[in-house]
Amino acid sequence: MVVFRLLSALRFESGPVDPPGLTVFRAQQCDHCHALDGISQATLGLSLDGIGQRASTRLPGVAGPDYLRRKILRPDTWRAPDSLKAMPAYEGKLSGAELDELVSWLMTR
Ligand code: HEC
Repeated sequence: MVVFRLLSALRFESGPVDPPGLTVFRAQQCDHCHALDGISQATLGLSLDGIGQRASTRLPGVAGPDYLRRKILRPDTWRAPDSLKAMPAYEGKLSGAELDELVSWLMTR
């Protein structure tokens, strides 16, 4: 019983755990450039609010998750027409698992 109380107190104090994709987003400093509702208000890059919906409209015939993968690894795959700044390439900087987590989390935003 004491152990149970201790465990639930610990769980309560540590609060909700970030989804893995959000952890990657922060670790890779995406939030230094991109605004995202409730997470960041950075203005260097585009706002990523609603990116899960927009992602499938960027490259003809390319599904949203595939577009995000390509854009993150090799940003010149698609460039925002109204942006003068470029995004850094993440090829070689993310493990396959990190990229998967990041992409599936972005698809929910
Ligand atoms: C140094 C600033 C910077 C960093 C860091 C950065 N980006 Fe970007 N990003 C940009 C800029 C500027 C653009 C718009 C120009 C372009 O398309 O390349 C952009 C565009 C994008 C787009 C296209 C948005 C759309 O509407 O299609 C996505 C998706 C994206 N970034 C995701 C990420 C993710 C995920 C990370 C972290 C792994 C990241 N960015 C890190 C600057 C950055």
